[in-house]
Amino acid sequence: MSEVIVVGGGIAGMGVAWSLAREGTDVTLVERGTLGRSASWAAAGMLAPAAEIGFDELDLYDLSRQSLAEWPAFARDVEAASGIGVGYDDAGALVVADDRDSARALRRLFQFQESHGVPVTWLSGAEAAEMEPALTSRIPAAIHSPEDHQVDNRAVVRALAAACREAGVTVREETTVETIEPGHPAAVVLDGGERLAAPVVVIAAGAWSGRLAGLDPAPPIRPIKGQALSLRMNADVQFSHFIRAPRAYLVPKSDGRLVVGATSEDRGDDLALTAGGLYRVLEGAVRVAPGVEELDVIETWVGLRPASRDHAPILGRSRQPGIAMAAGAYRHGVLLLPAMARIVSRDVLVMLAGNASEVPDALSPQRFEA
Ligand code: GLY
Repeated sequence: MSEVIVVGGGIAGMGVAWSLAREGTDVTLVERGTLGRSASWAAAGMLAPAAEIGFDELDLYDLSRQSLAEWPAFARDVEAASGIGVGYDDAGALVVADDRDSARALRRLFQFQESHGVPVTWLSGAEAAEMEPALTSRIPAAIHSPEDHQVDNRAVVRALAAACREAGVTVREETTVETIEPGHPAAVVLDGGERLAAPVVVIAAGAWSGRLAGLDPAPPIRPIKGQALSLRMNADVQFSHFIRAPRAYLVPKSDGRLVVGATSEDRGDDLALTAGGLYRVLEGAVRVAPGVEELDVIETWVGLRPASRDHAPILGRSRQPGIAMAAGAYRHGVLLLPAMARIVSRDVLVMLAGNASEVPDALSPQRFEA
């Protein structure tokens, strides 16, 4: 019997499994498809507390900045363990407006950021276009945000998968969990009827976490669809910062891809790529960087963000015996990866030792279970 079963092999599940295995814990990781090919693959890799966290998500802000601070060491560790570079890039972000209304909203965001000590600089459109010549100088204003970084999320997936295997995690891909059985020990029942028991089962099944039979109450997580695409940058259209515009983001990768995303659609499990969805993000990108229109398309894709009810991740032990969560990170799964892996792996070790949880109430599953 393993000491821990992790259900879901996205970056959250792999991050927890790897952290535990590095502490000498015997972990089995169960993934219904291929490791990291759902939301972790569909992401853009922004590590962006300043550019991506809204006014309504203030509670997330401290956790996000803490996780960002943990990223360089996390990247070094996973690169050393796997031999795979994860493309950590600290060039920063430009958050740009594309009309008068969005310039007013940007000014409010800037004032809010300044009042919270975020190191940001206000730029005119011309100044922004000087920093990033592919931007039109007609944009009314921009914020330079040097503390917003990025990684290559697909490289992170590959590196974490290799690191998990190297650390001795038992990986079972193409394996679907039908039912969770809380208890001492807890267990999971697989679709073929096989039952795996362990003292702790960690639920890290992304947008599907709320629909696993046996979790009562089910964690309030719903899928929010995102359609995105990648383009091939050319000699005229290059970016060093990533760009957060009102209707799209543009994230340059070191291999020459420009990731352009993403829609945000509350449509259940719908995974359809639509002309309208791709048009909206492309139109949003072209408004701020007209040369984007000429770029070759490399790939289009769709993913489902795991959105918790309050948009904060759901971390650590549930009230149900033997059950812990690493789920619900919504738009911020890549950014929050080091913090989620640390908090949940620590809580699992504390559970195995029979001690009280140290996870703050604002992150605990128990905030929804009263
Ligand atoms: N964090 C980027 C997105 O959710 O689209």
